[in-house]
Amino acid sequence: MEAHSLLKGKRGIIFGALDENSIAWKVALRAHEEGATFVLSNSPVALRKKDIFELAKETESQVIAADITEVSELEDLFEESMLLLGGKIDFILHSVGMSPNVRKNIPYPELDYDYLIKTLDVSAISLHKVLAVANKIDALSEWGSVVTLSYIASQRVFSSYSDMAHAKSMLESIVRQFGYHYGISKKVRINSISQSPTRTTAGAGVSGFNAFFNYADAMSPLGNADSQSCADMCMFLFSDMSRMMTMQNLFNDGGFSSMGISNKLIEQYIDCGCGE
Ligand code: NAI
Repeated sequence: MEAHSLLKGKRGIIFGALDENSIAWKVALRAHEEGATFVLSNSPVALRKKDIFELAKETESQVIAADITEVSELEDLFEESMLLLGGKIDFILHSVGMSPNVRKNIPYPELDYDYLIKTLDVSAISLHKVLAVANKIDALSEWGSVVTLSYIASQRVFSSYSDMAHAKSMLESIVRQFGYHYGISKKVRINSISQSPTRTTAGAGVSGFNAFFNYADAMSPLGNADSQSCADMCMFLFSDMSRMMTMQNLFNDGGFSSMGISNKLIEQYIDCGCGE
C-alpha cells in the first residue's frame, strides 16, 4: 500500500518483533514507511535470535531489550526511548504473547497453574504494566495511541487455544479499563485488533494451527486477514485519523466473526460424505 506520511513526526515503541513473520515486524516496516521514528523492544532471550537487528537497520531504529513483565525494565525502556527519540511517545504496539501450557500441550482441564500465571503475566498483565509505567512517568503524548493484538478466542471457544483464551479476555478488559483512565487523564487511546490466524512463531505454537487457519479462511468471505493488512490497520489506529476511537476490540478477520457457516464449508462437508 502506498505511504501517506500518516505517522510523520510521531515517535513510537514497538514490542514483539521476533522474526520476519512476526506481526510486529510488518508493523515496524509500515510505520517506517509512514514517517515514524521508533524503538524496537523484545525480551533478552528473543534478542539472541538477532533477526531484530536487521529490522532495526532497515527501519533506522534502535533496539532496547526489556522483559515486558519486569516493571523496572519497562521504566528504563521508556526513559531511554524518550531520550533517543527526542520526546514523549505517540504510539505503542503491544504484540506479545506466550503460554507455557500451550507450548507444552497440556490439556485444558489439567492446566498447570504456575504456567497459567505466566501466560496471564506475559500476554495480558504486561499491557497493564506498560500503560502503568507510561502513566507514572508521563511518557505518552496527549492523544497518543496504544494498540495490542487479540484473538476471537477471548469470546468463543477454540478448543486448543487453552489458557491463551483467558489471557485474551483479560487483555481486552485491560484495553477498556485503562482506556477509560488514560482517556480521562491524557486523551490516550487504547484499542485491540482481533486478528485472523496468522503464520508466525506464536501462531504455530497452537496445536492444530493449520486447521484454525484453513477453517477461518474457508469461513471468511474475504479470506483470512494477513499480517500486512494488520499493519495497515495499525497505521490508521496510530494516526490522528482514528483520534476518537478508543476502548475498542476491532476485528481484522475478513468477516469471520460475523459468520455462522459458509458455502465453502457446506460444500466441503457434502463432498466428504460425512454423516450422510
Ligand atoms: P511472534 O511469536 O512473532 O510474536 C510474539 C512476541 O512476543 C515475540 O517477539 C516474543 O519474543 C514476544 N515475547 C514473549 N515473551 C516476552 C517477554 N517476556 N517480554 C517481551 N516480549 C516477549 O507471534 P505473533 O503472531 O506476531 O504474535 C504477536 C501477537 O499477536 C500475540 O499477542 C499473539 O497472541 C497475537 N495474535 C496472533 C495470531 C496468530 O495467529 N499468529 C492471531 C491473533 C493474535
